[in-house]
Amino acid sequence: MKMNELCAAIALLITLLQVSVLTNAVSQPAEMEVPTPQPWPEQFHALLYMNLSKAQLQISNLYYDWPNRRNVNIFQRQLGVLLYDVEWNNGTTFYYTLGENGTCMIMQFDVGILRPDFLDGADYLGTQVTDGFLCNVWEKVDFIWYYEDVLTKRPVRWDFYDGISTHVITFEIGELLQDSFTQAPAYCFSTSQEDKELLSVE
Ligand SMILES: *[C@@H]1O[C@H](CO)[C@@H](O)[C@H](O)[C@H]1NC(C)=O
Ligand SMILES: *[C@@H]1O[C@H](CO)[C@@H](O)[C@H](O)[C@H]1NC(C)=O
Ligand SMILES: *[C@@H]1O[C@H](CO)[C@@H](O)[C@H](O)[C@H]1NC(C)=O
Repeated sequence: MKMNELCAAIALLITLLQVSVLTNAVSQPAEMEVPTPQPWPEQFHALLYMNLSKAQLQISNLYYDWPNRRNVNIFQRQLGVLLYDVEWNNGTTFYYTLGENGTCMIMQFDVGILRPDFLDGADYLGTQVTDGFLCNVWEKVDFIWYYEDVLTKRPVRWDFYDGISTHVITFEIGELLQDSFTQAPAYCFSTSQEDKELLSVE
């Protein structure tokens, strides 16, 4: 009798322990789970509203194209010029304007275009409402603060260290720019320095 009771008690204890181990196993990861940013789609078009560091405004049509290793911004500064910014993965970037007095500047950077997973390793800062959307927010190496819609996981906003704040107005996955739009004009390749005017680019 006594032996049986003891056995029953031990069995109950073991069951309770197992249950508590199981509950821990289930609840622990949920508590500790930290969201990670959605990688960028390999190809997308986004209409962007940008507030530049001196509070000047511009819109940009961004065409991100990872398979072709090309990133294009077509910037329209408020009451200013339309500026093409065509970036290649070999670090070469063409900045040019079209038209009668078109200008071109070529720059060589050490890094290529952003990889789709460029936010990997970013620090999670929690949630915040921005532009009216509840967002997860990450920061990466004091370079970018990135806001992603909690529900749709689409980017809503990103801020760069230099004060430029970018707000995503449309985000169309898979939309491509025709190649003809990214052919730098002939005057980009002219050898005369006079033809290559320096542009202020933010
Ligand atoms: C642009 O940013 C500046 C500095 O953060 C801010 O004072 C200004 O109100 C912003 N302008 C617009 C139109 O969002
Ligand atoms: C990088 O690639 C672009 C596009 O193919 C090309 O126009 C440019 O000359 C290349 N730059 C270098 C340094 O090879
Ligand atoms: C181009 O430059 C010339 C000479 O400065 C000027 O007369 C002309 O109005 C400019 N054209 C445009 C479209 O800005």
